[in-house]
Amino acid sequence: MFHIVKNELATFEEELYSVIYSPISLLEDVGDHLQQAGGKRLRPALYLICAKSCTNKAALMPMATAIEMLHMATLVHDDVIDNAATRRGISTANIRWGNHVAVLAGDYLFAKAFSSIANHVNCSMLQVLTDVIGSLCEGEIEQFKYCFNPAVTEEQYLRRIAKKTADLIAASCELGGISAGFKDEEVAALKRYGYCIGLAFQITDDLLDITASAVQVGKPVGNDLGQGIVTMPAIYALQNSAHKAELAEIIDKPEISAEEIQRGLAIINECGAVEYSCRQVERYLEEAKSVLPACLSPEVKETLINIAEYIGRRDY
Ligand code: IPE
Ligand code: IPE
Ligand code: MG
Ligand code: MG
Repeated sequence: MFHIVKNELATFEEELYSVIYSPISLLEDVGDHLQQAGGKRLRPALYLICAKSCTNKAALMPMATAIEMLHMATLVHDDVIDNAATRRGISTANIRWGNHVAVLAGDYLFAKAFSSIANHVNCSMLQVLTDVIGSLCEGEIEQFKYCFNPAVTEEQYLRRIAKKTADLIAASCELGGISAGFKDEEVAALKRYGYCIGLAFQITDDLLDITASAVQVGKPVGNDLGQGIVTMPAIYALQNSAHKAELAEIIDKPEISAEEIQRGLAIINECGAVEYSCRQVERYLEEAKSVLPACLSPEVKETLINIAEYIGRRDY
């Protein structure tokens, strides 16, 4: 899917490896562990694809690595918050080294991200990234605020996932467009594309938590209900299922058993909530494909369309 930036991504992997280096062996171990686990590299790939027409490829590397490090830092912190044991198919930093080290390693990655771009980008690009970190924190806080609340609305859910996930994906495309030297309205269109695929990406992630296996996605599933996180399929079921009162009772409880989680998942699965959420994913992906600016080369446009289609089909 990312073949048009295959060479750039190979350089990116090497750069990422050297940028994460720390003279402190414990931080180096955590960095190696995170690096080894890999990941889809969706955000740096989107940045590099949107910046494809920029001829100075080396100049793109600091921002590409900063975007991935920022993403990795948020995942390390997210796993502390979610008390998650696996990520990218291997144990999380919090499980391996404890929360103390994981929090500091996440902070270290944030610092490294900004040190990597400090002398390479202008203030407006820096502003895009710092705004994204603010959004990510707001999204996670909003999610925390609405935990165990069966009255949460789809609007509140969408606002939260926009901040938690879509804004970083939007920023990756926006920054790519800026690096390519596109006009303001063309950059805005790429940002909108990223925002729409970002919403679709998180809704799909929330669907996988209900429909997939842990082996398939490389991280725990069925977790959202257990943690009181009310996602789009659950919101739909809370409004439309014949068993909505029973589901509300399950969500309301801070301590729920494995049986109650299974019952909650069954209620969600039976009422068309998965199909409804898939339709919303499709709607956002259609919008994403329709807003792509005319300045893109045919190969970039085709790649961005393929990425949107992949997000609708992804099963890990
Ligand atoms: C995980 O993102 C966090 C979400 C926004 C759902 P990815 O699914 O892109 O994670 P990696 O980088 O491939 O592990
Ligand atoms: C994703 O949140 C992490 C961020 C966007 C900060 P989740 O908790 O929903 O995602 P996973 O399932 O752990 O990747
Ligand atoms: Mg999580
Ligand atoms: Mg989380």
